Amino acid sequence: MVEWTDAERNAIATLWSNIDVGEIGPQALARLLVVFPWTQRYFSTFGDLSTPAAIAANPKVAQHGKTVMGGLEIAVKNMDNIKAAYAKLSVMHSEKLHVDPDNFRVLAECISVGVAAKFGPSVFTPGFQEAWQKFLAVVVSALGKQYH
Ligand code: HEM
Repeated sequence: MVEWTDAERNAIATLWSNIDVGEIGPQALARLLVVFPWTQRYFSTFGDLSTPAAIAANPKVAQHGKTVMGGLEIAVKNMDNIKAAYAKLSVMHSEKLHVDPDNFRVLAECISVGVAAKFGPSVFTPGFQEAWQKFLAVVVSALGKQYH
């Protein structure tokens, strides 16, 4: 069971309430597909992913980025039981989609870059980053549960 301090809970709640899922989600998925190009193999039905500009302009990338980022709300709302809350999604990503679980970690990196760039150093302080990284690490671990 993951323990959260009041400061961590406050940081996650503050960041989440100011995150526009429709902005950060598409950015993060586009960044994933450019920076970690092997992830493109899971999105072969998404059309043109041939250049960073094509990826940024691809409506399916934008839509799915929003879906994935929206999926983080499950964790925000179940901070004390993130593993159970992601059980179904973990089974789906492993058994149906066959996503290599290391990709959860690199997507989390892309999400953090987007959040840091959006809020800047005065909001995304080291203390907030600590809480946010911990939060995403728990999400990544929960999504990977089915693989263990
Ligand atoms: C679908 C969440 C990471 C590949 C989904 C869905 C959600 C989701 C909510 C839709 C589920 C449904 O339709 O019932 C997440 C979260 C992630 C994550 C929260 C990590 C923070 C990844 C990664 C990949 C991936 C890293 C691959 C590199 C896919 C694919 C689908 C999917 C291929 C199905 C897309 C489609 O055909 O519509 N994910 N995901 N996901 N995810 Fe993930």
